[in-house]
Amino acid sequence: MSKERKDANKIDQSRRELLKVTVAGLLVGVTAPMFSHPSTTRAAETVTGGKKMLITYYSRTGNTREVANQIHQRVGGEIIELQTVNPYPEDYEELKKQAMQELKSGFKPELKIKVKEIGSYDVIFVGTPIWWGTMAAPVKSFLSRYDLSGKTIAPFITHAGSGLGQSVSDMAALCPHSRILDGLAVWGNRVHNAQENVSDWLHKINIYE
Ligand SMILES: Cc1cc2nc3c(=O)[nH]c(=O)nc-3n(C[C@H](O)[C@H](O)[C@H](O)COP(=O)(O)O)c2cc1C
Repeated sequence: MSKERKDANKIDQSRRELLKVTVAGLLVGVTAPMFSHPSTTRAAETVTGGKKMLITYYSRTGNTREVANQIHQRVGGEIIELQTVNPYPEDYEELKKQAMQELKSGFKPELKIKVKEIGSYDVIFVGTPIWWGTMAAPVKSFLSRYDLSGKTIAPFITHAGSGLGQSVSDMAALCPHSRILDGLAVWGNRVHNAQENVSDWLHKINIYE
């Protein structure tokens, strides 16, 4: 075979190899997202320093639960809904009245859930609806029941206009030996579109590296 012919063959072969690599690369690029779970994988990779997370919240009508789930999708860890032994009234007016009385008297309802090994968590996300300008009473029960000294607390709340109100400062008063991060406030009627707010907040409080 002439030298020119041999060179031409070599070039053809290199082109074929390059084509194979490119096609393989494209296939990996196209198929990888089908098999991975972006939210969970990302959370596992990006949460700071392998810290152990607990997400706990109270929610009567589901708004705070929705935000809790969005946080959970991003950071992973345990998620626990707080429930009271005695349920609150279904009737909204009754509920408002009872919540106001409890606020005035400082009543803390008994909780059904007992969190095992609370000492093992580094970061505790605490979620609550705003009730009369502050956290709901069941969340007060949670913060009072457990010793959260030395823990980092990340508060998230849903509301109907008050924003954070006094919730974060009241949490700080109940947990004087915890580090309380900036809180996230989400309007109750916008929780289903809160993913971006949640992500921005997680970056702001350095939960993502
Ligand atoms: C007893 C009670 C008191 C409330 N007080 C306030 C308030 O002071 N300010 C406010 O913005 N929203 C207030 N809300 C509205 C709730 O904070 C809001 O609807 C929240 O998103 C409900 O969350 P949930 O679905 O997780 O229970 C109150 C709701 C209830 C039931």
